[in-house]
Amino acid sequence: MSAPSRALVDPSMVIGDIDPRVYGSFVEHMGRCVYDGIYAPDHPSADDAGFRGDVADLVRELGPTILRYPGGNFVSGYHWEDGVGPREARPRRRDLAWRSIETNLVGTNEFLGYARTVGAEPMMAVNLGTRGIDAATALLEYTTLRDGSYWADLRREHGVAEPYDVPVWCLGNEMDGPWQLGHKTAYEYGRLAAETAVAMRRVNPDIELVACGTSKPIMPTFATWEAQVLEQCYQHVDYLSMHMYVDPERAPDLRSLLASGLDIDAYIDAVVASVDYARAAGKHAKPMPLAFDEWNVWYNSRPREIGLWPQAPELIGDIYSLADALVVGSFINSILRRSDRVRIACLAQLVNVIAPIRTEPGGGPAWRQSTFYPFAYASRYGRGDSLHVGLSTTRHDTQAHADVADLDVAAVREASGAVTFFVVNRDLERTIPLELDVRGFARLGPGAMLTHAVLSGPGAEATNAVDDPSVGITEATRRWDGEAVGLPPLSWSMVRLEPNM
Ligand code: AHR
Repeated sequence: MSAPSRALVDPSMVIGDIDPRVYGSFVEHMGRCVYDGIYAPDHPSADDAGFRGDVADLVRELGPTILRYPGGNFVSGYHWEDGVGPREARPRRRDLAWRSIETNLVGTNEFLGYARTVGAEPMMAVNLGTRGIDAATALLEYTTLRDGSYWADLRREHGVAEPYDVPVWCLGNEMDGPWQLGHKTAYEYGRLAAETAVAMRRVNPDIELVACGTSKPIMPTFATWEAQVLEQCYQHVDYLSMHMYVDPERAPDLRSLLASGLDIDAYIDAVVASVDYARAAGKHAKPMPLAFDEWNVWYNSRPREIGLWPQAPELIGDIYSLADALVVGSFINSILRRSDRVRIACLAQLVNVIAPIRTEPGGGPAWRQSTFYPFAYASRYGRGDSLHVGLSTTRHDTQAHADVADLDVAAVREASGAVTFFVVNRDLERTIPLELDVRGFARLGPGAMLTHAVLSGPGAEATNAVDDPSVGITEATRRWDGEAVGLPPLSWSMVRLEPNM
């Protein structure tokens, strides 16, 4: 054990209420996320619609509150009309984004039904790559209007009498990226986003719209993209998106990887600064919240083989280590620490494609990756107000960062009065005792109940497999007498104090 660290929280020091939508995820028609992932009609657990029941159970346990669909890069070439109506009449198409065959057996109605089944709000993206206003307004009408016009009546003909509640819509995907079908300059995209937003609101004024921000912090257009896009569409949209993936193989060493939270914090702060600039320059009264609608660990520098037009190929099916799960824990902490500005966030993706849930090809079992746990615990216990944490801890340097706190901490006060700390111990060797200074919370004195859930495994590189859940959680609850809590080296922890009733 080393010298104790200390986390001070106070009921009056609130960063912001946590929007439950920060615990979102993402379903893209890519690789084996949809087909052979959530959907596998021949699987013994499949429901009448063809969705795997065992996977749906894991999704419910993971607890995503909102699901973004259908892409991702896929959406920028998608004809949504291909995926509705009788299945036997749906075309097989080339998906130009991922160079795969799209069978269209799953489309809008199937996905929206699935989101309902797993208890998540849907968040749809429209194609502003190869298509535009017309396709977007038609899809919005098809999904959200009751009847009395062509597209709404077509949905009813397709057997869905009631419209869906789809509150959030993304105006395209990563339009700043040259890899994107229909990639645009900031001005071109900003204009199209504004025009599409105006038209979509005429169809349905109740929707919330997300404009595309930057796809990764290293983009040469980062920050000027935000300013130029928002110059065109600020008043017409409700969120600006941001995306970020951490590639472990680009980190010079393990300690640098574990310090990724510093880069995530800095990126969020930079996006906030760029949208605040746009707000000031445009003299806009309303603030611009962020939709961090793709984030994760992704071994993106590994060579990728995409065959010739395969159907649901194994694509970026990364297997995650304990260290990767700690980075996921840091992502969540960074998002919680900016809960005043980050109002939507989506772990990309949900199943098989850089995902917390894996299915074995060809109908084998589904299982939890290491990254499943920090998300599942945060989604379950990280609801309420995000609290400022006065943290005193030891610090270190890594090859990529200077002055890194040994602990990465976020804290949440739930409506029940419970206070929960999510903590990554970045130290590779030392158990760090953490003193919880909650003296401002009258009901959390000694005698409160303390739950400590620890994610750990046999080493930084340890991974899970279908028959090997070696990275997992141990959880214990006890009466708390004010003692420090020992955080094992290289671990993610949830430390939860509940008033003793
Ligand atoms: O999530 C995988 C891909 O990453 C998405 O399709 C794209 O939006 C991003 O570049």
